[in-house]
This record gives sequence, C-alpha cells and structure tokens, in this order.
Amino acid sequence: MKQATILTSAIAGLALTLALPAAASMKMNSAAAGKMLAQSASRGAEMFAHDTFGGHRRMHGAAVTCDTCHMGGGRVAGRLPNGKQIPSLVNAAAIFPRYNPNLHKVVTLEMQIQHCVKGGLGGQPPAFGSKAMVDMIAYLHSIAKGQPTDAGGMPK
Ligand code: HEC
Repeated sequence: MKQATILTSAIAGLALTLALPAAASMKMNSAAAGKMLAQSASRGAEMFAHDTFGGHRRMHGAAVTCDTCHMGGGRVAGRLPNGKQIPSLVNAAAIFPRYNPNLHKVVTLEMQIQHCVKGGLGGQPPAFGSKAMVDMIAYLHSIAKGQPTDAGGMPK
C-alpha cells in the first residue's frame, strides 16, 4: 500500500468509529436518554440516603450515611456529629473543582465524594468511573440543576 492510501484508509476508519456511536445515540430518543439519566440520579439518591459503603459507624443508633451530615438529601443545611452547621449541597456540583484548604490541593467532585466516604463514613470509596461514582455524581448534579457554574465558588 502507498503511504497516501494508508493515510486515507486510516482517516476513513477514524471517521467511521466516530460516526457510529453518534448514529446509535441519535436512534435512542431523548426521552429514553433522559430516563437513563434520571434512573442513575435516583440510584445515587438511594445511595446517598442509605449506603454505608462498607463503613460501620453509627450515630444515634443509626448507620452513618451521607444523609447523616448532609440532611434532606443534601438540599438543606447539614450538621456534623459535633453539632456544627455546614452548607447544603445544592450547588456542590457547580463549584468543583475547588481548592480544599484541609487537603491543601484542588479537588474534583469525585475526590470530595471519596474524601467524605473515607473520612465521614469510614467506608470504601467508590472508584473513579465506577457505576456507584457515576450515580452519585448524577444525583449531585440533579439537585444542582440551574445553579450557575462557578469553579471555586462558595457552597450555599
Ligand atoms: C461525618 C459527616 C459527613 C458525612 C457522613 C459526609 N460528609 Fe460530605 N462533607 C462533610 C464536611 C464537614 C464537608 C465540608 C468540606 C470538607 O470538610 O471537606 C463535606 C463536604 C461535602 C461536599 C462538598 C460541598 C461543597 O459544596 O463544598 C460534597 C459534594 C459532599 N460532602 C458529599 C458527600 C457524600 C456524597 C457523602 C456520602 C458518601 C458525604 N458527603 C458524607 C461531612 C460529611
């Protein structure tokens, strides 16, 4: 094969691999796509309220979950076990990445979730890209709908 032919077929192959998923996703109507996303967010909500991620901490006789500190599904101001009030999570998905002074580094929303699972729940954090992580991210975005994107901004 001449070099030009090799290049042409490489470009054609690339165009095909890019075009196929696009065509496939166009076949799936937006209602079905919205349903998949809503289901992911709803699994995230379930996890937020009930999952201990393998942690065994208890507070007031109940297993510690995200909702123990971030009450009302994170939609209202939260409270730590020592009584200290913390902001809600209503705009959390809109203000990451941000600098975390306790960790001395810029963290993404995924890293913050892992930090809370480890430190708050004493659990095994979900891996980046895992189904659990994706569902939790989908949930946090669902409660932040309409919040202006503002990386580094203040929690509400
Ligand atoms: C023991 C209390 C506690 C638990 C349980 C907890 N968190 Fe947190 N969370 C905090 C505190 C305190 C902060 C404030 C920032 C920090 O200390 O890093 C925070 C901050 C966050 C933030 C960032 C808020 C913002 O806008 O800056 C997110 C997102 C978050 N938590 C998600 C979760 C999720 C998801 C879970 C469950 C897997 C969870 N947290 C469990 C205490 C907790």
